[in-house]
Amino acid sequence: MQPEIMKDLQAALDAAKSRYIAQNAQSKALHEEAVNVLPGGNTRTILHTDPFPIYMKYGKSYQVTSEDGIIYTDLAGEFTAALYGHSNPVILSAINDVLQNVGMNVGATTAQERLFARKICERFQLERMRLTNSGTEANLHALAAARKFTGKRKVVTFSGGYHGAVLTFSGGQPASNNVDIDDWIVVKYNDLDAAKEAIRSPGVAAVLVEGMQGANGCICGTSEFLHGIQEASSEAGVLFILDEVMTSRISEGGLGALRGLKPDLKTFGKYLGGGLAFGAFGGRADVMAAFDPRLSGYISHSGTFNNNTLVTHAGHVGLTTVFTPEVARRFTEVGDSFREKLNEVTKGTRIYFTGIGTVATAHFLAKGPRHIECADDVEEVPELKTLFWFEMLEAGFWVTLRGFIALILETPPSELERFVQAVQSFTSRHQNLVALDA
Ligand SMILES: Cc1ncc(COP(=O)(O)O)c(C=O)c1O
Repeated sequence: MQPEIMKDLQAALDAAKSRYIAQNAQSKALHEEAVNVLPGGNTRTILHTDPFPIYMKYGKSYQVTSEDGIIYTDLAGEFTAALYGHSNPVILSAINDVLQNVGMNVGATTAQERLFARKICERFQLERMRLTNSGTEANLHALAAARKFTGKRKVVTFSGGYHGAVLTFSGGQPASNNVDIDDWIVVKYNDLDAAKEAIRSPGVAAVLVEGMQGANGCICGTSEFLHGIQEASSEAGVLFILDEVMTSRISEGGLGALRGLKPDLKTFGKYLGGGLAFGAFGGRADVMAAFDPRLSGYISHSGTFNNNTLVTHAGHVGLTTVFTPEVARRFTEVGDSFREKLNEVTKGTRIYFTGIGTVATAHFLAKGPRHIECADDVEEVPELKTLFWFEMLEAGFWVTLRGFIALILETPPSELERFVQAVQSFTSRHQNLVALDA
């Protein structure tokens, strides 16, 4: 960007930040207290924002209300986990029923976990599955299964991929706090030749991939890339693990089913627990047999809350009566049309929305073009992204600083339309900053 435009951008950003501080005094005060007990006032890194985060008091349906009394339309959707909205009545009634009639933490095998597991297996074409408490755990256990099955250790994964708190791969390498730091082969996303070469290298147990890199900016894997990985893995005797933690909502059977993929294992998380802490993994019966306690040499898969009564009831009712296959199909159409409208009103600017269905990310491109296959190749203007965030909050939309959007089922179409208009106003108001030749 030209230096004088950068100066204008910085001035707009400073003004927006001053308004943010003035409008959110209670959040600021809470943050100043929180830093005395939590490092940086934070216990979940992604929620850290400068100069301080907005503190949310409660959520209802598609809205959240801050400690400063501001009501927002929630477009962040708890990074896909809040698909059912905040306290959906069906989910709430299932939870109340558990509290009144089943009890929490019964410390035993229950009939309900079998029902929930059967539903997940049916929907996502799994022969066997197991429950965990997070998507991170689901991936860790899936990798353990692949290692036991193949007797190998290395795992091929992709730059920019995010598979959990200790499974992060930005900038082409494992993060310093990752597990098994020496066992990863990190390849460029959507680069099939490089992926094939890595998959065929010695000692590889599995390839772990997202069908759409969610945390990396909703970059979609091409069909050719994903099918190519599947084929190369099968030929090399390497297990193909599809991380559906964010993408299981993209169709009734997830993004894998939409793309016609048949992974050896899939991993899950987010909304599938009805809004409670959840994870799951499953797939081929012969691979999942690694966890069968009746067999000698089985792997122990522990977790106090794996089969907790709240999640097995709330998740089951959500999948059977709220997010039915028909609803899943329609919701993805709503999301696709929303993203198309956003790209229409931002045409000719630096702003571009990637994603699929109801999950999207706003990008603020330094140069264009409006086509992204690998986020590593794309330069963004972070100041513009931050300005957008401040101004969307002012317009009453709860969006993430990174531009990530995940729709909530109950969001009225009029609110989606209002957001499209807010984005259009942003581009007109800041034409000098967003124009591609600026
Ligand atoms: C693709 C993907 N895999 C795994 C995870 C980790 O899930 P959790 O936060 O439940 O551990 C996430 C979380 O955002 C994710 O997006």
